Amino acid sequence: MTPLIAANWKMNGLGRDGKDRVRKLLSHVAANKHKCDIVVCPPATLLASIAGLLTGSPVALGGQDCHAAGSGAHTGDVSAPMLADVGCRHVIVGHSERRADHRETDAVVGSKAAAAHASGLTAIVCVGESENQRDGGETLAVVGAQLVGSLPHSVNAENTVVAYEPIWAIGTGRTPTLDEVSQVHEFIGEKLRDAFPDDGDRVRILYGGSVKPSNAADLLAIQRVNGALVGGASLNADDFWAICQSCP
Ligand code: 13P
Repeated sequence: MTPLIAANWKMNGLGRDGKDRVRKLLSHVAANKHKCDIVVCPPATLLASIAGLLTGSPVALGGQDCHAAGSGAHTGDVSAPMLADVGCRHVIVGHSERRADHRETDAVVGSKAAAAHASGLTAIVCVGESENQRDGGETLAVVGAQLVGSLPHSVNAENTVVAYEPIWAIGTGRTPTLDEVSQVHEFIGEKLRDAFPDDGDRVRILYGGSVKPSNAADLLAIQRVNGALVGGASLNADDFWAICQSCP
């Protein structure tokens, strides 16, 4: 399975620094070989200009969220057809920051993923436990329930990627141990196989949460870790490229 390294810039980047970051990434991509698929998910305001820079390159564009509806009276939202129209091939749905900031439930996340599929986009569906849930021994139950609630029937190996992001590891510099990451990824793999017998084994499972150049190789070497969803370190093109270069 080709690993996927995805950059989630979150709510960071104005026109010039965003474009400079992408130009720098593209210069690394042009000058070196890489063993992974690469996606950049800038804020919505930069999608059109960055789409122009990425045309003809192997780096794909992704949105950070989409509405479940295709169009309509939803002020401030962006739909999956709009993302496809601007050149996106991917969209992140159900990030823990949206689940918290916008009270997105599993059902909402599932309908967003279905909308992404209907527009030909690959949904990067995020799941992950809080620190309290981990301390309470609930990690697998929480992640299992999120998967059941957030993955629509339309899932296949091409249109869906699952991202495991423990909330307590996001932006904190802390990560689970390699064994803990492996345990959750194997569990997600089993759930995917059970729910989608034809394709589940080929759905990529990304790890996210304080991935950086210094820990990427160890995380990406884990059997069922099929890539990474990178926040803070993706804001530096050299660090993000170093993570891309850490793929086995
Ligand atoms: P950090 O890499 O900054 O911990 O963020 C992870 C994340 O939330 C990616 O979606």
